Amino acid sequence: MQFFLDTGMVDEIKQALDWGILDGVTTNPTLIAKTGRPFMEVVEEILKLVDGPVSLETVSRDAKGMVEEGKRLAELGDNVVVKIPMTPEGMKAVQELESEGIPTNVTLVFSPSQALIAGKAGASYVSPFIGRIDDTSGDGMKLIRDVVQIFNNYQIETQVIVASVRHPMHVVEAALIGADICTMPFEVMKKLFQHPLTDKGIELFLKDWEKVPGRPF
Ligand code: G3P
Repeated sequence: MQFFLDTGMVDEIKQALDWGILDGVTTNPTLIAKTGRPFMEVVEEILKLVDGPVSLETVSRDAKGMVEEGKRLAELGDNVVVKIPMTPEGMKAVQELESEGIPTNVTLVFSPSQALIAGKAGASYVSPFIGRIDDTSGDGMKLIRDVVQIFNNYQIETQVIVASVRHPMHVVEAALIGADICTMPFEVMKKLFQHPLTDKGIELFLKDWEKVPGRPF
């Protein structure tokens, strides 16, 4: 499973790249706004750092506007993926952008039927938002199971990006289901490394190492 960071924070991206576990980045207007920095400045920095796919979101409500924005975003880099909301207008835009070789990521997906439509429209990626479903007492991970099964049933090539991730078990469950990609906040990525027994074990080994005679280092 590929790991994407769901962020606009360049420092977080640099850290994940340094760890060697980053495959791509997803952004949205909220995440870019959180940086407090000019859009173009942030995006250019991200695109300089990341070789993998970088999703940038359109904000128009009509297909024509989405296509225009998508084309402008795609000019910023070969690895730009245009994020399009799951609406009928959005699906028109997806078909047009994909037919021109511009990859799209259908966002704000909350049901299997929406994902199926995104797949039929030929989107390169679809982003079911699991955390927001869990927040409303729903079962976000069931949506991922359903979407992966439907795409497998019909050999739909659209890649599933598990989005709106809240904690490490979301990542683990996504991997067990076989989702293609998990996009996560930096805090979740950091937690994937952590286990108290690892810290305790390191401490104990270091303490015992002090007792070893003739230590070479
Ligand atoms: O980028 C889309 C999605 O991951 C947003 O997550 O935490 O705002 O529900 P969240």
